Amino acid sequence: MKPAGLFISFEGIDGAGKSTHIEALAAALRAQGRAVVLTREPGGTALAEKLRALVLNEPMDALTEALLMFAARRDHVLQVIEPALARGDVVLCDRFTDATFAYQGAGRGFDLGVLATLENWVQGVPATAPRLRQPEVTVWFDLAPETAARRLAGARVPDKFESQPQDFFARVAAGYAARLQGDPKRFLRVNADQPRDAVWAEVQAGLRERGLL
Ligand code: TYD
Repeated sequence: MKPAGLFISFEGIDGAGKSTHIEALAAALRAQGRAVVLTREPGGTALAEKLRALVLNEPMDALTEALLMFAARRDHVLQVIEPALARGDVVLCDRFTDATFAYQGAGRGFDLGVLATLENWVQGVPATAPRLRQPEVTVWFDLAPETAARRLAGARVPDKFESQPQDFFARVAAGYAARLQGDPKRFLRVNADQPRDAVWAEVQAGLRERGLL
């Protein structure tokens, strides 16, 4: 029998260290026999990757940024996420809509009501889901902005967001906390200010508790 599809997203401010854990989780799930689709936002389709290159590198106002994020997301949801879930795959997505609320909303100060409308448009997938498509679980790597800044310093050439000042990331972190408040059951908060093995142990424990690993 085909397993039910599972959608997990991963969030956190830049420097929170989500990448290695996403890959470790993909390996753990594959070892259990699950088909795993590893993807990311903005991006995940040819069109969305083109939009990613624009939105991460070109200066633009916050509304343009939000529209491009959601345009990329719409393509990604329709082309990749929905088909994968319909097949019964696990979709591991490096960032999703919480990032738009955190970065464009809390970080850039853009209207949260407009973002909520866009979320409803873009994640309402009438043919396949009567309700809003959301991740079943969102793993939030929670890290103090000062610590993230220390980790990022000198790591690589920063993109438009990574080069923002620390108070921007303090707002983004607050934006994630507000999204958790709005939907506490969906969020798995992980303390990212620990050695990598301890963070990974928290990720695994949280998913096991939910019967997902
Ligand atoms: P990130 O996911 O950190 O990828 P990488 O590790 O390859 O740099 O980079 C994506 C950036 O895009 C990150 O700074 C957050 C930002 N972003 C938004 O501002 N809004 C969004 O909706 C999404 C998905 C990402």
